[in-house]
Amino acid sequence: MLSPKLIIANWKANKNHQEVISWMDKFSSGLPDLKNLQVVICPPAIHFPLVKDLIQKYNLSGRVSAGLQDLSAFPGGAYTGEVTARMAADSASYVILGHSERRKYFKETVQQTAQKAIQALDNNIVPIVSVDRENFREVLGQFDDGMLSKIIIMYEPPEAISVQDGETGKGKPAEAADIEEMIKNLNQLAPDAKILYGGSVAGANISDFSSIPELSGVVIGNASLDPDEFIKIIRQI
Ligand code: PGA
Repeated sequence: MLSPKLIIANWKANKNHQEVISWMDKFSSGLPDLKNLQVVICPPAIHFPLVKDLIQKYNLSGRVSAGLQDLSAFPGGAYTGEVTARMAADSASYVILGHSERRKYFKETVQQTAQKAIQALDNNIVPIVSVDRENFREVLGQFDDGMLSKIIIMYEPPEAISVQDGETGKGKPAEAADIEEMIKNLNQLAPDAKILYGGSVAGANISDFSSIPELSGVVIGNASLDPDEFIKIIRQI
């Protein structure tokens, strides 16, 4: 991988308050020298302030930051239940947008994902926009060249996502050749964008992905829930 390498932990809808505290405790005590790695923990939004506080408490700032898993497409106002980019400005470093689970379970459209990315960029939060083989042209087609140079693209085939509680993916990680071909396709549309891969990344297979030089990092769901497994991945990159 080219540096800097981004390691994104996507906790999805997992962990209560106490579980976050013990995860951060174990993670901070086992964390190796990160060299040129940048770790971004994306907890559920309700735990975001707690993760931020624990990053500070354990002196991890600079090497580890906190991100979000979604944001509102609206700037703010009468939108019950929404978390807006303005609320997270100067506090969240990154936000995952347009994840296939948002599309599948919450019927998010590519237009909504693009609106969310605009909100994020307006508030200095870097959008990590999820694409797959089927939708990447349509998703990237929502952005002008200026925006394309500011977003990070995450290639995540829905079938590659690991199986959690019998939901979403099939746990079949993408082959290196498939990722390399997608990087070429994506770079034609967004030559400057950093590209990440996500889908069943784990301690046992991280070398398959970390050996792809054009990849700027990985997104880790299931395997990031266990701090020991997450550290095992980081150690091998
Ligand atoms: P996974 O999830 O690592 O559990 O496959 C990745 C993701 O959906 O972001």
